[in-house]
Amino acid sequence: MNPPRNIRIQGIPDSVPEAIAAVCRSRFSVAVDKLLDETGIEDIKVTVGTGLEKDSSQNGQNSIQKKSDRDLSPEERAKRYEAQKPLFTFEQLVIPEKVIEDLLLAVDLIRLESKVFDEWGLRKIEPFPRTALNFHGKPGTGKTLAAHAIASKINRPILVASYAQIESMYHGEGPKNVEAIFLAAEQQNALLFIDEADSLLSKRLTNVTQGSEQAINSMRSQLLICLERFRGVVMFSTNLVENYDKAFETRVRNINFPMPDEICRREIWKRHLVEELPTPDVSLEKLAQVEDVCGRDIKNAVIDAAMRAARQGKEEVLLSELLESINSIKKARVNVTPKSRPLTPEEKEEAEKKIKEALAKKKQEATS
Ligand SMILES: Nc1ncnc2c1ncn2[C@@H]1O[C@H](COP(=O)(O)OP(=O)(O)OP(=O)(O)O)[C@@H](O)[C@H]1O
Ligand SMILES: [Mg+2]
Repeated sequence: MNPPRNIRIQGIPDSVPEAIAAVCRSRFSVAVDKLLDETGIEDIKVTVGTGLEKDSSQNGQNSIQKKSDRDLSPEERAKRYEAQKPLFTFEQLVIPEKVIEDLLLAVDLIRLESKVFDEWGLRKIEPFPRTALNFHGKPGTGKTLAAHAIASKINRPILVASYAQIESMYHGEGPKNVEAIFLAAEQQNALLFIDEADSLLSKRLTNVTQGSEQAINSMRSQLLICLERFRGVVMFSTNLVENYDKAFETRVRNINFPMPDEICRREIWKRHLVEELPTPDVSLEKLAQVEDVCGRDIKNAVIDAAMRAARQGKEEVLLSELLESINSIKKARVNVTPKSRPLTPEEKEEAEKKIKEALAKKKQEATS
């Protein structure tokens, strides 16, 4: 049999932030795996890298570096993750009272751990008390803000890692990275916040056929192990988990972040229209009447209107400009959403059918 031929897909420049590059690599890998699977080609090994990496066959310094990265122990790996000072406080967060209560309960659990588990002896029945929360809700509803707010409330640093950073282009590294971030959080006495965790908390796949699926499954299993052992607070953030893994459902408490209603919108506007910003004719009532916008839309509208006014040499930001900004942000968001949603199973099936047909046609052309 011929030795496998190596194909390296390069081109994600180093200037692309690592979190985005990781998502691109992951999607490329999945697409390539799928293509190889469908064409039945076995003797080609495809890897996806950045624009600057040397081909592994050249034994360049970069590839040596990557290779040795693979051998790092969890302790060495953990050094890559550094906790930060929280960026936001509870005072900045506007959410319904019920959600605030849930979040404060989590804060209390952390504050009272030593009394309940050490002084009152409950460590005998639960050696690893932990708080695992999953903030789920639409984008821009305050999940990241809430994670920072909890950390600042209990005066602890926060270690932020996204799924894209944990997932790795090299099979087998994802689970090691999961282990490393939990270790890093424990060592730095930090709250752990795992962003974009939809894929991590989803049902583990049965009937695994591809390497990329196996890799995700191993990451999920490793996450369960780490959750069991972790003595601390871990918060996940998800947008749309359709298929929670049962094991996570019982270990992680879900907290839903709704889109803000009119009362909340009014308050969010108020907190974003800071004191120094000259807004002579502002009406919070009128601003709050613009429906179906999230906190991030409001923040962006304030910045957008202020920038426009400043560029035009004005000395103040008018209500009409704020309304124009929020309405145009809303319009742009509504137009984008349908394109960026995941494919439905029917659409997926249709797309797969088309790919198969195209491949079969190409094969036929090549043989005739
Ligand atoms: N509930 C809220 N209260 C006050 N401000 C908010 C709220 N939601 C969003 N914002 C504003 O929008 C910004 C972005 O929100 P945040 O990053 O917390 O959203 P998210 O839910 O984490 O979104 P994503 O799912 O896209 O990660 C915040 O920094 C804040 O300025
Ligand atoms: Mg977020």
